[in-house]
Amino acid sequence: MENAIVKTISLKKHYNAGTRTVAALDGVDFEVRRREFVSVIGKSGCGKSTLLHMIGGLDMPDSGTVVVDGMNLSEMNQEQLALFRRRKAGFIFQQYNLIPDLSVYDNIIFPLELDGVHPGEGFVRELLSALHIADKAELFPGMLSGGEQQRAAIARALAARPAIILADEPTGSLDTLSGHDVMGLLKVMAEKYQQTLIVVTHDLDIAQMADRIVRLKDGKIWKGSDSYAGES
Ligand SMILES: Nc1ncnc2c1ncn2[C@@H]1O[C@H](COP(=O)(O)OP(=O)(O)OP(=O)(O)O)[C@@H](O)[C@H]1O
Ligand SMILES: [Mg+2]
Repeated sequence: MENAIVKTISLKKHYNAGTRTVAALDGVDFEVRRREFVSVIGKSGCGKSTLLHMIGGLDMPDSGTVVVDGMNLSEMNQEQLALFRRRKAGFIFQQYNLIPDLSVYDNIIFPLELDGVHPGEGFVRELLSALHIADKAELFPGMLSGGEQQRAAIARALAARPAIILADEPTGSLDTLSGHDVMGLLKVMAEKYQQTLIVVTHDLDIAQMADRIVRLKDGKIWKGSDSYAGES
């Protein structure tokens, strides 16, 4: 693929589950073009989160290669990986993972401050406005609705202007309406800031918002044509 920002080659990851070994990823060749929006679907346990973790440098494969924006993650040391995670990749999780005793604003700047960087107040306010939570900046996460908390988490993921956004079931804790709202905003934001977006989801309506849908089955990319219905 020309202009791939993400490329995995023969990616394998096994986990030990009691007496047996689970192949969470069993040889995944996956590519995403710069600025593409790809959704990843497949039933529970098929390896979606594992794939996202490998791409984001949160975990290392047993074998195979992950290249993101020209960088081979397996050639990086711990320090380089930590920087990669904070600067290159923005993560959004189902459970928001906001720090409860920091304001929304401080939650957004906190990861960058770890690096002694400040995104600039103007940019943070711009993100909050675009996500329709400008008036929530000084509140604590517990005072926000689920959808608002997830939009705050999106602002936090975008604050470092990462090249790729990795979202693991970002609407999984939201009702359908606010889930679609949040996803629509995330898509618009990724387009605005020219980011590559990879979203794991169980929601087929959300999956269909992407440029392309990739389906995993038993740790492999599934190219079959059988229906996905009822598999979530
Ligand atoms: N830390 C771990 N220890 C042991 N097994 C694990 C671990 N993480 C994942 N697995 C196993 O690897 C497989 C893939 O897990 P993964 O979390 O990637 O699935 P998933 O597609 O994200 O599922 P879900 O839709 O339920 O989130 C599963 O069988 C899971 O039980
Ligand atoms: Mg998962």
